[in-house]
Amino acid sequence: MKKYVPPEIVEEIRIKTDIVEIISAYVSLKRQGKNYVGLCPFHLEDTPSFTVSPDKQIFYCFGCQKGGSVINFIMEQENLTLPEAAERLAEKAGIVIPAAPQTEIEVQRQSEKRRIYDMHELAADFFHANLLDSHIGKVARAYLDKREMTRDMIEDFHLGFAPDSWDSLKNYLLTQGFTEQDMEKAGLVNKSQKGTYYDRFRNRLMFPIWDFRGKVIAFGGRVMGNELPKYLNSSETLIFHKSQNLYGINLAASHIRRCDEAIIVEGYMDVIAAHQFGINNAVASLGTSLTPDQGRLLKRYSSNVLISYDADTAGAKAASRGLDILDNLGFRVRVLTLPNGLDPDEFLHRYNGKAWTQLVQNQAKSFLEYRLLTAVSKHNIKTIEGKADVVNDLLPDISRIKSQVEKDQYVKMIARHLEIPEESIYADLRRKTGYFQNVDNFNRGKHTNNTRFQMNEAKKENYKDAYHIAQKSICRLMIEDRENFDRVEKTLGLDFPDIPVLKDIMQFVKKIYADFDWAPSTLVERTDSIELRQSIAELLLEEVPGEDREKLLRDYIKTINLHKLKKRIEEIQTIIHDQEKKNLTNETITLLQEYTRLQQKVQQLKN
Ligand code: CTP
Ligand code: MN
Repeated sequence: MKKYVPPEIVEEIRIKTDIVEIISAYVSLKRQGKNYVGLCPFHLEDTPSFTVSPDKQIFYCFGCQKGGSVINFIMEQENLTLPEAAERLAEKAGIVIPAAPQTEIEVQRQSEKRRIYDMHELAADFFHANLLDSHIGKVARAYLDKREMTRDMIEDFHLGFAPDSWDSLKNYLLTQGFTEQDMEKAGLVNKSQKGTYYDRFRNRLMFPIWDFRGKVIAFGGRVMGNELPKYLNSSETLIFHKSQNLYGINLAASHIRRCDEAIIVEGYMDVIAAHQFGINNAVASLGTSLTPDQGRLLKRYSSNVLISYDADTAGAKAASRGLDILDNLGFRVRVLTLPNGLDPDEFLHRYNGKAWTQLVQNQAKSFLEYRLLTAVSKHNIKTIEGKADVVNDLLPDISRIKSQVEKDQYVKMIARHLEIPEESIYADLRRKTGYFQNVDNFNRGKHTNNTRFQMNEAKKENYKDAYHIAQKSICRLMIEDRENFDRVEKTLGLDFPDIPVLKDIMQFVKKIYADFDWAPSTLVERTDSIELRQSIAELLLEEVPGEDREKLLRDYIKTINLHKLKKRIEEIQTIIHDQEKKNLTNETITLLQEYTRLQQKVQQLKN
């Protein structure tokens, strides 16, 4: 059952917990001004950029951008969910989490769920017994023999057989005290138009699907001939959410932890073959492309993934999408493409486990290498344009790499592959990187704390600089104090930032405004978006120049207003310029009047 920790208890935990003390158990922290710094536990570094702020009760790493409250820290460090992390800290602080109050609906749902679990357990055993039955299971066993599946695998994966009958499972579950309505809710029977119920799975080889705890939550059923659909899976039920589960995770989990890598394949048969050949860290995403939930499930066990999907285009597309998702979740991803269009099951049976291991060693491509090869296959790199297109395709990937060492390596690899100088790639990168992007590439070699809020050095002298700082600082002051928020909302509205992250932060605060206690640590905890949480933590750790918040806010609002005026003035200038080329109209005159008025306003604001 999912634990629920009421917000006031979370609050109490945070108040009674000292973030510095908790984090000190994992990181050696040194005092630096108001804050503590140390080597970040979430990425490799040799200069400390991991910062803990005791007065704000948040942490933030300027190197890898992870940040949040003490609860977020424990979640990240120990791979726990929020309630689990809260529970752990509560124990330390001597706080008792009350049992969740249950509504009647909740109680009913729980009992419905329990019945669905029970029916699945019984159905799995029923199918399994059928497969082993000398008479009923004959054809299915012959099919598995043909596919060279061992008896051990049939046992470990508890494979089964659904007889060619409309009611064998239904009748069995009726004798076990379940109603047809129960079975329908479990997705095990379908309802006909006449209102009668019949078995959903008929004449199919049955694969029970488990959750990570090893509870049967669904089934996949395969035909043994060429009929369609080849696989029929359970529909979504109270206990089965396809996009949140990985096939085989219950069996693979401990191995994934041990080898610190998971292998993701496409299908049931691929997972089973992998296990049969001693590759025990394989799971399947079940034909769909990988989802963020599945990624997070894996993250509990390892941050390294090898994807081996079918070599066909659908497989490549699915792999590519999965790659993005995993990359975003901070996985180190490798991709293995098998020769001759084989899938893992076919490859392993044709060769063996050793051949697989060798192939992985020699052929698995890093995320970026795979990206390079994909881009190269799309363009003609014999031509200059083709080379430029490839570089262009890869720029977003390059600019996302956090480690300068890795970035250099990747640039080198692309340069070598395309036979172009590395410097041209860096030049393209500079051109493409807007001023609201990290500037690693510009300060190569120097250690800088570059973050998403920093801007291109070249623009520093620009008037935009002041505008940029003003936006950031206003938002910073707004999330610190409700009065500031109200005041800015009234004068500028919430759309004033042109930096997307800041806009998101404003919208987020607005959303939780009514029940937000304006403590920085509450703010970082309230969002599920990692991106947002990190940006907020980063923003909160920015120093505000000066103590007089009132005056600061006034000045920043002025800067924003000035910027707006100047932008409008520029617009008018362009229009007037265009019209002058033709001839003066009434409209031009109106615009000229507006122009003069705006110029006066600018002067007033400046004084
Ligand atoms: N799949 C599905 N429904 C289908 C086809 C496929 O749910 N109609 C899912 C199954 O989870 C399947 C996976 O996609 O395991 C991969 O499909 P495919 O490569 O076609 O099947 P294999 O797993 O290779 O099965 P087999 O080797 O028995 O053909
Ligand atoms: Mn296959």
